[in-house]
Parts: sequence; structure tokens; C-alpha cells
Amino acid sequence: MLIIGLTGSIGVGKTNVAKEFRALHVPVFDADRVVHKMLAKGGEGVKRVAEIFPVVHANNAIDRKKLGDIVFKDKKKLQLLEKILHPLVRKAEKRFLQKAQGQKKKIAVLDIPLLFEKGFAKVCDYTIVVVAPHFVQKHRVMRRRHMNHEKFTQIIASQMPQAKKMRLADFVIRAGLDKRSTNRQVRAIYSALCAK
Ligand SMILES: Nc1ncnc2c1ncn2[C@@H]1O[C@H](COP(=O)(O)OP(=O)(O)OP(=O)(O)O)[C@@H](O)[C@H]1O
Ligand SMILES: [Mg+2]
Repeated sequence: MLIIGLTGSIGVGKTNVAKEFRALHVPVFDADRVVHKMLAKGGEGVKRVAEIFPVVHANNAIDRKKLGDIVFKDKKKLQLLEKILHPLVRKAEKRFLQKAQGQKKKIAVLDIPLLFEKGFAKVCDYTIVVVAPHFVQKHRVMRRRHMNHEKFTQIIASQMPQAKKMRLADFVIRAGLDKRSTNRQVRAIYSALCAK
């Protein structure tokens, strides 16, 4: 089974690419979704995060908006949070790969925003980076609830620059145009991977 790492900066269109892979019957591990579930009511990460950031704890869940406001302003706190979440994501990723292996899948995709930053790329046979021009990315992200210019700038500053990710990746998807163009690139990569 080929393990494909999918990454890219905030809001460039990773989830959209993941959706197209799923449409091609490729299983996709969604690291963001896994983290959301961990921090939701009764989730695996609630207790440990609440110990370190008690103010974000409410009703046995973590208020992710409040948590984001804290950690994206403070690199040390972000590192502290990542130290808790990272091993839990790793565990979930292993379970996902075992399941895909059991289903005799030829390709499995790991959609992980910090694929390069956190060493997840090491387990991948190939990596794909999704990119979009900064103004398109900003436009897509600013449409979201709870987002503002300051927060967007802080998140961008905490991530590896797009140009560096492009140098590290085996495939680049340019998602600055419409979804049809993006999805065409996904299908071309899928064909190339099937031929390997
Ligand atoms: N190629 C595209 N053309 C037009 N709109 C797109 C395209 N790709 C994504 N979008 C839109 O841009 C927004 C962000 O896309 P998406 O959620 O896929 O990004 P993401 O990289 O997964 O973001 P995040 O880093 O927050 O996980 C969504 O509203 C989505 O519908
Ligand atoms: Mg996403």
C-alpha cells in the first residue's frame, strides 16, 4: 500500500482535495477531524488539555475557539498543546493505516496540516502539497466564523512557508483556480500513483 501525505498551508483547499480522493475510493485520514473529536465532549484529549489550559474547559469538552486564541499568540503554549495532541494523532493514524491495509487498499492518504513540520512525512511514500496564492488563501480563510486578520497572520507565521513545502513535496496541486481545475490535478496524480 502506498502511503500519501497531503498537506498545505491554512485554507488552501486540502479538505477539498481529500474529498476528491475519497470520491476515487481512496481512504483519507483527516488529522483536523481527529483533533476536533479528541477535544469534543468525552474526547481522548479533553482531560489532559484541561489540566494545562483550565480556562478552555467547559462541559467536559474543550472550547476550541478559546484555545486557538491562546495558543496562536504564544509559541510556547502552542508547543505544549502539540505535545499532548501529537501522540494521540499518531495513534489514530496507525489505526487508520492498519484498517486500510486490512481492506487491501492500494493507496491511503494522510491529510495532515503539519505533515513536514512534525515529521509525519517520514512514514509517507510520496507527499502532495496543495498551494494557492496568498490573496486567494486569505479570502477563503477570512470567510470563516471567528476569523480575523490578526489571527490569520498569526497562524500563517506559525506554519512553514508555502514555497518551502513545495520544495519538499513530490507533487504540487495548484488550487488557486476553481474546483474543476483542482480536481483534474487530483485525478492525474491518482493515475500516476496507480501506475507505480
Ligand atoms: N479549488 C478551489 N476552488 C474554489 N474554492 C475552493 C477550492 N478549494 C477549496 N475551496 C474553498 O475554500 C475553502 C477552504 O478550503 P478547504 O477547507 O478545502 O481548505 P483546507 O486547506 O482544508 O483548510 P484548513 O487548513 O483550514 O483545513 C472552502 O470554503 C472550500 O470550499
Ligand atoms: Mg482542511
